[in-house]
Amino acid sequence: MDGNGRWASKRFLPRIAGHKQGVDSLRRCVRAVGQRGVKVLTVFAFSSENWNRPAEEVSGLMELFAMAIGREIPQLKADGVRMFFVGERLGLSVKVIAGIEQAERDTASNSKLILNVCFNYGGRWDIVQAAAKLAAQGKAVTEQALSELMALSHVADPDLVVRTGGEQRISNFLLWQSAYSEFYFSDKLWPEFDEAELDRAIASFNQRERRFGKTSGQIAAQAAAGSTS
Ligand code: FPP
Repeated sequence: MDGNGRWASKRFLPRIAGHKQGVDSLRRCVRAVGQRGVKVLTVFAFSSENWNRPAEEVSGLMELFAMAIGREIPQLKADGVRMFFVGERLGLSVKVIAGIEQAERDTASNSKLILNVCFNYGGRWDIVQAAAKLAAQGKAVTEQALSELMALSHVADPDLVVRTGGEQRISNFLLWQSAYSEFYFSDKLWPEFDEAELDRAIASFNQRERRFGKTSGQIAAQAAAGSTS
């Protein structure tokens, strides 16, 4: 959800005003993806590296998260959204952890849309924590064993990764899980990411040929036979 700070700076507002708009944009996006039949939405809300921002912005963001989580739970619950918070909890405030736990508990019986909020998350952190668990269990390192211990093991790998804000890099998001994802880079700043841009991202995705290491010919033959394996 990149571009909140620039959205605010362009309007001579403090950066936190951009993050507040970012929450509104996320609310609209959750509704829009649900209406389009998407089953899993994973958003990057705070990275392991975001602690390096000015202390004032970090504390403002933490306040905003705690407040936004509390405020949004009833509607998310009513809309059938199940929330998961993915990332390192150590180092988060008691208030933020309480909000996270309440959101996960209150939406645990929902199943229309899974909303994963990556918070104090990094793709490298995830690989390392999974590898450390595997080592502690004394188990052989295999792709499957590692996958099962990753923080997003409750959902399939993402089909489409959208990055807003005009940058074309992955910035430590879903490093393991995006091995075969399609990417869509949007010039829209996150507060301006709307339904029209979401539809452009989905239309772009629908035009891609996903080969998963195979040839075009093999994919065409599979499609004709009605198989996806
Ligand atoms: C990156 O934009 C955005 C963030 C670090 C924060 C994103 C968080 C939200 C939208 C709130 C989510 C809330 C909940 C409850 C999950 P940036 O600040 O790097 O923008 P810039 O590149 O323009 O400076």
